[in-house]
Amino acid sequence: MEKRRTAPIRFLAETDSTNLAIRRLAEEGAQDGSVIWAARQTAGRGRLGRSFASPEGGLYYSMLLRQSEDPARDLQLTPAAAVAAARAIERVCGLPCGVKWPNDLVCGGKKLCGILCESFIAQEKRFVVLGIGVNVNTADFPSELREIAVSVRQLTGKETPLPALAQALTEELDAAVEAARQGDAALLEDYRARCVTVGREVLLLREGESREAFALGVNEDYSLRVRLPDGSTEDIRFGEVSLRSKAPLPKGGC
Ligand code: BTN
Repeated sequence: MEKRRTAPIRFLAETDSTNLAIRRLAEEGAQDGSVIWAARQTAGRGRLGRSFASPEGGLYYSMLLRQSEDPARDLQLTPAAAVAAARAIERVCGLPCGVKWPNDLVCGGKKLCGILCESFIAQEKRFVVLGIGVNVNTADFPSELREIAVSVRQLTGKETPLPALAQALTEELDAAVEAARQGDAALLEDYRARCVTVGREVLLLREGESREAFALGVNEDYSLRVRLPDGSTEDIRFGEVSLRSKAPLPKGGC
């Protein structure tokens, strides 16, 4: 049965990072499921220690979760967040979204949304924060991002009301987090169907090294199975995978 949401959803016009803001709330005793979203971040955090450009027009969103007593149940929260964000963007903006492994949402070969899940301890309890940044109404990007980032508005020509997307994101995350913790197979199927990395030549980037490979598929634990040039296969769990060509994209996909 669907759980009724009681945790608050808070809006901030500006903050340093919604992931940091929700962490501060956790230190004050915030409830499991609490959400903070903002219209601007001054110190947005990205994966692998990078910063995340967070100009006006984007949706910067974090959900706080108490870690499960069995942490193995939480291993799939990051891909669950990617599927939830894709479903919310499709529902509200009418835009189909692909997933570039592990958790970037892409459309038209460019990045539409980034996801950063972090864990921490507050008041002696373990928490996970699901942080999601969507390029929604962004009119333009700094020149260094123009080739790789895109917004919903640039793709559809329409403005999306941010509160409606934040609400849909909360609904989809509530459902996807529950599904991930139950080991729901439909979540994995949705992720696989959206994954634009599979069937492509990729570069595996880790600790300053880069290796060529071919992406064969997504395993049940959401690791990426790749074939290396010597014919051996490997399952990739961490790091970054870049696509070596923009084409061909799956028919009707992103
Ligand atoms: C990435 O693509 O490297 C991940 C970017 C994650 C950005 C979001 S925006 C909301 C939340 N707050 C942050 O500081 N980061 C995440």
